[in-house]
Amino acid sequence: MAKFADIKGFVFDLDGVITDTSIFHSQAWHQVADKVGVKWDDSLADALKGISRMDSLNLILARDHKENDFTAAEKEALATEKNDNYLKLVAQMTPANILPGIQAFLDDLKAKGYLLSLASASKNSPLVLKHLGLSDYFTKSVDPASLKHGKPDPEIFRRGAEILNLDPAQCIGVEDAAAGVQSINGAGETSVGIGDPKVLAAADVNFTETAQLTLSNIEAAMA
Ligand code: BG6
Ligand code: MG
Repeated sequence: MAKFADIKGFVFDLDGVITDTSIFHSQAWHQVADKVGVKWDDSLADALKGISRMDSLNLILARDHKENDFTAAEKEALATEKNDNYLKLVAQMTPANILPGIQAFLDDLKAKGYLLSLASASKNSPLVLKHLGLSDYFTKSVDPASLKHGKPDPEIFRRGAEILNLDPAQCIGVEDAAAGVQSINGAGETSVGIGDPKVLAAADVNFTETAQLTLSNIEAAMA
């Protein structure tokens, strides 16, 4: 693990770290799973975290060996239906949907001169940031449409450091998904996992709640 004193930037995941949208993604996929007759459970919900829209649909279908039961056009329609379900939930979002402690953490990072970037797989992240009132904090974002590989591949977190003109070793990546932690580790950044330590066992540092995300807690955990 890097030394805390060498850290200059933070690369953030969005859904499930900055805001509670991971529940909305799950709700919207659950509706699609019911429609295609795939049983929904917590392990499926966890496996979908951090994964791109089409990869998520393929994972749901593969759970019940249905991946070859739909044409590409039918899959597109299902993915669009999921996104429409999701956007109805996003439309209601306000700054109250920022997870506990995150606003204070971002303000502290900015005040202390750390650089911030966003490494979200979501094509909806600009809209979500706007609803949260956080667009000005994340002027540097990796465009998920430009990626060759999604999480768990390291590409997205590597690019998150690159757009800050930092070496990955100078960055901390923050994630709630196992696939995301794997991406951070592969990129050579220090990984901070938020959530169940069993699911995020590969993280360098783990906090169960976003409220624990403070510079002093991170510094202590990296010592
Ligand atoms: C990730 C979420 O941030 O973005 C996933 O954790 C989601 O659940 C993925 O599938 C893609 O998001 P979107 O909004 O482009 O469908
Ligand atoms: Mg996430």
